[in-house]
Amino acid sequence: MKQHPFTFSISVPDETLSEYDNHIVRRLSAMVGQYQDAQAFTAMLSQDPVLYEVYEIKRPESEGELMNGISIVHPGKVGEEYFMTKGHFHTVLDTAEVYYCLKGEGMMVMETPEGEWSIEELHPGCVLYVPPRWAHRSVNTGQLVNLVTFFIYPGNAGHDYGTIEQQGFRKLVVERDGRVQVIDNPRWHPKER
Ligand code: F6R
Ligand code: ZN
Repeated sequence: MKQHPFTFSISVPDETLSEYDNHIVRRLSAMVGQYQDAQAFTAMLSQDPVLYEVYEIKRPESEGELMNGISIVHPGKVGEEYFMTKGHFHTVLDTAEVYYCLKGEGMMVMETPEGEWSIEELHPGCVLYVPPRWAHRSVNTGQLVNLVTFFIYPGNAGHDYGTIEQQGFRKLVVERDGRVQVIDNPRWHPKER
C-alpha cells in the first residue's frame, strides 16, 4: 500500500482507471429479491447480465483515509425497473460520500434510517454530496449509455447491505409510459422502533 502521494487518471471514454486494486462485477443473480417483477427477474436469470461494475483504489479501512474509484451502471431494465446498484448504508453511519457524474444519465435514490427520502438526478458534470446517515443507490435511467460516476468516501465507512436487502429503498425508479417515474415501493414499511 502506497504511503506516498500518488496520481492516477480516469479515462471517461474508456470508463476505466489507469490503475486500480479491485474490479467488482455485479450480475443480476446478486440482486435476488431486489426487483419487484419476479417473473421478469427469473426470465433474465439465464443470461445473468452484468448490472454494474466498480473499479476501486483500495486504501486502509481507517479513519483519515479516503476510498475512491468509479462505478459503472449499465443500461437496462428488469420489468419496468432500471438497472441499479444494490445500495447500502455505511456501517459507520456518520460517514458521507461524494459522487461526481462523468457520463450517462441517472438518479441517486437515498434515504435515512428514519425513512426520510431524497432522489437527485445525475448527469455529466454534476456533483452529489451524500451526507452522513443517508443510504444510497445509483440507477441508470439512460437507454443506451453507461452511468459512470467517480466516488470518494472515508476509509472506515464500511458497507451495510443487509438493511436495504430486507425491504429495499422506500422509492423505486421505473419507466412507465416511456417516462422515468418515481413510485412508492410496495414492499417498504416504516420500521418499528
Ligand atoms: C461506496 C459507494 C460506491 C458503491 C458502488 C456500488 O461507499 O457508495 O462505491 O459501492 O456504486 O454500489 P453498491 O456498493 O451498493 O453495490
Ligand atoms: Zn457508499
